[in-house]
Amino acid sequence: MVKLTGYKKIKAAVFISGNGSNLKSLIKFSKKKKSPISIDLIISNNPKAKGLKLGKINKIKRKVYNFKKKYKIENQILSDLKEHKVKMICLAGFMEILSRNFINKFKGKILNIHPSLLPKYKGLNTHQRALDNNEKYSGCTVHFVNSKLDSGKIILQKKIKITKNDTKNSLARKVLIQEHKLYPRSILKIFNL
Ligand code: GRF
Repeated sequence: MVKLTGYKKIKAAVFISGNGSNLKSLIKFSKKKKSPISIDLIISNNPKAKGLKLGKINKIKRKVYNFKKKYKIENQILSDLKEHKVKMICLAGFMEILSRNFINKFKGKILNIHPSLLPKYKGLNTHQRALDNNEKYSGCTVHFVNSKLDSGKIILQKKIKITKNDTKNSLARKVLIQEHKLYPRSILKIFNL
């Protein structure tokens, strides 16, 4: 068995816009001995994101950016990431699209979670679209981020059954429960753990 004593965790930043339930699961995971990452920075484009409170409770540095001047802001974020020695980014409900320039600076080191079985239902409103198409299954996907929306290499997916009484809200709740397990598992997978 690999002994993890003296094992140095990779510093990660989580980007959020809203509730931060995935952030919560990632923070919990990052505190475990088996986690290859620590969470050292939380970035939000929304000052009212509920997830920011989690950062405060867990004493994780938080930064809020107004993305109106995206290119300027991205450069500021890049220098913040450098200052905090961040080597990996987890997007978790982050509602801004990062530029190709930004993504290239963290090539292969940005992950995202999406509430559908990609490549189906890229973009927003995934649950309603899956219901409208009478899908039997939905689920979630963790993937690497490239410059095309929700199109990077898939790391892991979890499939769930859609039942006849499902609404977009009930489906979102069911999928979210799986998201909270899938993100940590995907991180372990990319580190071959
Ligand atoms: C999740 O469903 C995620 O897949 C999507 O946005 C939602 C964020 O939820 N990109 P939360 O903020 O992590 O609770």
